[in-house]
Amino acid sequence: MALPLLEIRGLTVQFYTARGVLPAVQDVSLTIGQGEILGLVGESGCGKSVTALSILRLLPPNARIAAGQVLLSENGSGRDLAQLPEQELRSIRGARISMIFQEPMTALNPVMRVGDQIGEALLAHGLSHQREARAAALDTMRQVAIPDAERRIRQYPHQLSGGLRQRVMIAMALICRPSLMIADEPTTALDVTIQAQILALLAGLRERFGLALLFISHDLGVVSQIADRVAVMYAGRIVEHGPAREVFAAPAHPYTGGLLRAAPSLGSEPRRRLSAIEGPVPSLAELPPGCAFEPRCELRAPECSVAVPELIEAGPGHWTRCIRAAPRNS
Ligand SMILES: Nc1ncnc2c1ncn2[C@@H]1O[C@H](COP(=O)(O)OP(=O)(O)OP(=O)(O)O)[C@@H](O)[C@H]1O
Ligand SMILES: [Mg+2]
Repeated sequence: MALPLLEIRGLTVQFYTARGVLPAVQDVSLTIGQGEILGLVGESGCGKSVTALSILRLLPPNARIAAGQVLLSENGSGRDLAQLPEQELRSIRGARISMIFQEPMTALNPVMRVGDQIGEALLAHGLSHQREARAAALDTMRQVAIPDAERRIRQYPHQLSGGLRQRVMIAMALICRPSLMIADEPTTALDVTIQAQILALLAGLRERFGLALLFISHDLGVVSQIADRVAVMYAGRIVEHGPAREVFAAPAHPYTGGLLRAAPSLGSEPRRRLSAIEGPVPSLAELPPGCAFEPRCELRAPECSVAVPELIEAGPGHWTRCIRAAPRNS
C-alpha cells in the first residue's frame, strides 16, 4: 500500500439526545494512503458522514468524539487532528484536507458568484489579492472541466445544472491543492451519465495531483468503479475492509454480500432479481449485544449474539468482523 496519509484509529463518536447517548460511530479504524481512493459504503444511518465530519471536527454540537485518533502524516510530520487546537485545525480544513459535503445546495451560497466561492478558500488561507484568487478560480474551473469558464465564473449557483454545481464544489475543494479530499455522496443526486463524468473527473484529479480521496457512497456499484480499497460500515462499525477487487469478488461479511446482491450491476449472478436485505437496520438506542447484523443475517449462529466479533483477516489485507468467515487459502 502507499505510504499512509491519514490514519483513523479507534474513532468513537456519540450523540447526546433526548433518547440517551447514541453510539453513532464505534471503534472505527481506517487508513488512507497517499494518492489512494478509499470507498466508504453502507446503508443510510450507518455512520459514514459522522466518520467523515469527525476527521475535520465539523460535527454538530450534540456530538462528542469519545475516543480515537486522526493522524495526518505530511512532509515527515504526524499530527493528531482530534487533539489539535482549533486555530491549527483551521489551517488544515479546506487547505490540506478538503470536503465535499453531502448536501450540495446547502453547501453553496446562493447569492455569491461561483468564481468568488471557489476563490474564497485561497483568501481564507492567506492569499490577499482578489485578482489572484479569481485567476486561480478560473484555472481550477478549467481543471474540473467546466466549459466556458470565463462566463461561468460570474454566474450564481441557480444558473448551473446539477452536474456543473458538483464541479464547482469539486473546484472549491481542489483550489488549495489538498492532499486529501473527502467526498460525501458526490454523485448521488446526479443522473447516471453525469455520475459517470464526475467519477471520471475525480479519478483524473487523483492521477494529475496525486490526491487521495475518501469516497463515501451507499452505492456499491459506484464505489466499485473508483475505489482502490473499500470499507463497509454497519450500525457505526467497520464490518469489512480490504482491496476493492477482493471485497467485491469474495465478500467476507454477509452484510457486504447482501449489499452486493442488492446492487444493480454487481454481484456474482447479475441476472438474478434484485434482493434487498430483509429486516430493518437496528436502532442505535438499542443495539444488540453481539453482532449488530445478526438479526438480519442468513448465516447467524447462536454465538453471534454473545459479543461483538473482532476483526479477523479473511485474506491478505482483507478483514471482516464475522465469526463465520474462515480464513481463505489464497
Ligand atoms: N445531530 C444528530 N443527533 C443525533 N443523532 C444523529 C445526528 N446526526 C446523525 N445522527 C445519527 O448518527 C447516525 C449516523 O449518521 P450518518 O449521517 O453518519 O449516516 P450516513 O451513513 O452518512 O447515512 P446517509 O447514507 O443517510 O447519509 C444515524 O443513526 C443518525 O441518525
Ligand atoms: Mg451521510
